[in-house]
Amino acid sequence: MRTSIIAVRFGAMILLFEIGGMLTATAAEAAKANSFDSAPVAASAKENPVPADATPLPHILNPNTPTYLRDVLPIFMGKCSRCHNDQSKFLDNWFNYKTALRDRSEIKRRVWNSWKGTYFKQPMPIGNSPEFEAMTEEEHLIIKDWVDAGAPYGVQTPDNTPKSKPERIQQGKRLFAAVCAVCHQATAQGIPNRFPPLAGSDFLNSDKNRAVRIVLNGIQGEIFVNGQKFNNVMPAFPLGNDAVAAVLNYVYSSFGNSGIEVTPEEVKALREQNAVVNSPDEKSPFE
Ligand code: HEC
Ligand code: HEC
Repeated sequence: MRTSIIAVRFGAMILLFEIGGMLTATAAEAAKANSFDSAPVAASAKENPVPADATPLPHILNPNTPTYLRDVLPIFMGKCSRCHNDQSKFLDNWFNYKTALRDRSEIKRRVWNSWKGTYFKQPMPIGNSPEFEAMTEEEHLIIKDWVDAGAPYGVQTPDNTPKSKPERIQQGKRLFAAVCAVCHQATAQGIPNRFPPLAGSDFLNSDKNRAVRIVLNGIQGEIFVNGQKFNNVMPAFPLGNDAVAAVLNYVYSSFGNSGIEVTPEEVKALREQNAVVNSPDEKSPFE
């Protein structure tokens, strides 16, 4: 019964909850089932410490309240990251919780009020961008509700690690839809001259470690994928080891790709090397 109420009110939240593997009803399970789990901590805890005093947790009372970790960060990754990321010099980085918390009122005004036409500044995501087209009504609503609830951070969730390759692929599929598809497209065919294809990509299939490092660190500069040139920027994403492994397992086992397996341990090892992808030296072997 509760599910149907949620479904009416928070259509897309179901989707996002599902990203966390959450289709269950209890608060405890809700808190446990977050696939982005340790992600932000793993990726950026050092630079982006969460202020202990700034973390109201109303979702503990009401599991339907959106939280940053579980519901909002996936939207920021998919719909805002091209412009607002930890490399952007002139725009705020919404992967930093403190920044997002500080600017929450303006975030709500841009994502909700401007979009509804009751605030005069440019709506976010910027109109006519691929992000604007891909952003659902429910995602706008999640951001509004999150700000109204005091912009709670949410809980770090231990051990919801997918145990098997099929589980990883399922988790990765949801992650791909939320984060990667806005640029690489749901079909993974990309957009010529802008976003390279992941479907049947020689670049992807020829080097698994490089693919991991791209998702961890982002990539920019000239690359050749299936003989086509791209020279653009992909931001780094604050995803944990499990999430990176999940999304790459999904990509590798879909879209006509090689089916290579990626484990969280491999991701962890590459993260620890802190390897930076030097794209100009790492061209596709088939170009
Ligand atoms: C295509 C690039 C692009 C995307 C995508 C985008 N933004 Fe922006 N954003 C900008 C630019 C450029 C500005 C500065 C111009 C302005 O204030 O209108 C800005 C400004 C803002 C501001 C005002 C900042 C301030 O301090 O006053 C907020 C808030 C904001 N964006 C939130 C978001 C959110 C949330 C998303 C994702 C849901 C998003 N933006 C997606 C480019 C983008
Ligand atoms: C904001 C847009 C954007 C998002 C979101 C994004 N990418 Fe990318 N990605 C790019 C761009 C642009 C490039 C090419 C960069 C260049 O030209 O150097 C790229 C390149 C790649 C490549 C190497 C080239 C290829 O086609 O094989 C891989 C692998 C990749 N992305 C995986 C992912 C995965 C997995 C996700 C989701 C976790 C993701 N990307 C999300 C924009 C994006």
